[in-house]
Amino acid sequence: MDSSFLHRRVHSITGIVPVGLFLVYHLYLQLYLHSGASEYNERVNSFYDSPLAVWILILLVYLPLLYHSVLGLRLSAEANVQPQYQYFAHALYWLQRVSGVGVFLFMLGHLWNAKLVPALGEGSLCLTECANQHYEHLVAGFGDPETGLVTQAVYVLGVFGATFHLANGINTFCMTWGIALTPKGQFRVRIFSMLVFLLLTASTFYALSALW
Ligand code: HEM
Repeated sequence: MDSSFLHRRVHSITGIVPVGLFLVYHLYLQLYLHSGASEYNERVNSFYDSPLAVWILILLVYLPLLYHSVLGLRLSAEANVQPQYQYFAHALYWLQRVSGVGVFLFMLGHLWNAKLVPALGEGSLCLTECANQHYEHLVAGFGDPETGLVTQAVYVLGVFGATFHLANGINTFCMTWGIALTPKGQFRVRIFSMLVFLLLTASTFYALSALW
């Protein structure tokens, strides 16, 4: 089998199954921001109580995410004008690539800000109590008089980019895997992906409104 054919398929499935499901679960957890600091921290931290947590993260989140990101960046660099696409399909083709690069950059900043900075604490490594105070860390970041507005803008763009990239990725996933080949089937997938985009974006902005 042609290796680029195989890579395209693995790239497509990693975007939807491990990475996409993680994103839906992760954004759902953010709704607990409305329940206050102790409930939010409890919900977020309880995942790490399991001895399997680190393996789940490595095998089901970080490795597929790394594969999906590296191949996605390569495919974006090879992107071309697609004369066979009509205007709307062409716009989505480019937006998928631009949002992918944007989400990749957002994630580097987000991992630094949401995982590493709390773990580094006040200049010294802290892997216990202070690393678990995610709610307090988010509130401080969003409310910082100097950098709060930049943090808020980065989160708004990052969430838009990630929800669009996942929802539109459902369409490209169906194309890559030969699902919904008829115009009627493709129309249904398009409607479904738009609903996913609207639902995920609305629920995440509702979650974030707890920090404003
Ligand atoms: C409402 C917007 C978001 C908020 C408030 C938020 C908050 C957080 C917090 C507090 C953490 C550290 C606690 C934890 O490990 O779960 C975290 C980790 C993480 N976030 Fe987010 N996040 C948001 C959006 C996103 C998006 C859009 C993505 C993906 C594009 C993302 C990907 C990740 C990843 C990969 C981790 C590390 C998970 C781990 O190693 O345990 N987040 N986020």
